[in-house]
Amino acid sequence: MILLTGGTGVAGREISMALQGMGVPHRSLVRDRVKAAGSAGALVELVEGDLSRPESLGAALDGVEKALLLTAVSPDAPQQERNFIAAARRAGLRHVVKFSAYGAGLKAPHFFGRQHGAGERELEDSGLPFTMLRPNGFFQNFLGSAGSIQARNAIHAPAGAMKFSPVDVRDIAAVAAHVLTEDGHQWQRYTITGPEALSHDEIAERFSRVLGRPIHFVDVTEDAAREWMLAAGLPAWQVEKILDLYRYYRTGAAAEVTYHVECVGRKAPTTFEHFVRDHAASFAVA
Ligand SMILES: NC(=O)c1ccc[n+]([C@@H]2O[C@H](COP(=O)([O-])OP(=O)(O)OC[C@H]3O[C@@H](n4cnc5c(N)ncnc54)[C@H](OP(=O)(O)O)[C@@H]3O)[C@@H](O)[C@H]2O)c1
Repeated sequence: MILLTGGTGVAGREISMALQGMGVPHRSLVRDRVKAAGSAGALVELVEGDLSRPESLGAALDGVEKALLLTAVSPDAPQQERNFIAAARRAGLRHVVKFSAYGAGLKAPHFFGRQHGAGERELEDSGLPFTMLRPNGFFQNFLGSAGSIQARNAIHAPAGAMKFSPVDVRDIAAVAAHVLTEDGHQWQRYTITGPEALSHDEIAERFSRVLGRPIHFVDVTEDAAREWMLAAGLPAWQVEKILDLYRYYRTGAAAEVTYHVECVGRKAPTTFEHFVRDHAASFAVA
């Protein structure tokens, strides 16, 4: 049996759908079975548990051989990962696939990279066979700019002229589904990117081309970005860490393009234009 954590979130839902598309039954750890029941497919067995409550994890792992460890963005993520890895050891899992992040490492220059680096180290030290999935930023993060694209034909970010290689969550899911169902991926670290490195000007140009109206990139200061994210309701700690991530992006260090979507996920990587086309209704003029 395969267990997913985070299976109701943006990435986890796509991973669950990819497994279902392959006809693979699996279990999903959820905090609220009633809330999750509506969106879970026929091949998904829901089990209640909470990564912050270690005592709830033993039953969820009963009979499980492989697991995806995906934690939400949270200051509690490292402790939750420690809880899960300890429970996975006790249950004798054969393979733990950790959903990590591009550039993860104990000495990564950005907070999320260091947080995932700590989780990776914990898993490496556990002795459990592992695979690290290290995706770059999700295309789907741009759905957060839908309101500004609808109302002002603009995307705003403290991105400058940097290029990075974001990736569609559906492509990450294809990689994860193959890693969870095949042998040969143990002890690997897969950096997962989109098919090209793009600047925000180029991203705006892709939006313009697909939506048929000019969309502009507005390079904003960190102060303006902070104000905008706080007004959008993001917690203050997370806003600072996102600004930290943009500082890292502006060094140009997140522009590598890799081929794991083709080689492991066995699909053609989704282009940014394709992503915009699939979500055109979200970006249409209000
Ligand atoms: N966004 C990006 O560009 C990006 C890029 C690379 C890596 N990442 C990494 O991706 C991860 C976030 O993925 P996502 O955006 O798919 O997350 P998400 O949409 O926020 O979903 C979070 C998931 O975690 C579950 N969850 C939250 N707290 C839990 C707890 N205490 N116990 C058990 N489950 C819990 C949620 O379940 P409920 O239904 O119960 O809320 C939900 O299924 C983070 O680790 C982030 O660093 C993100």
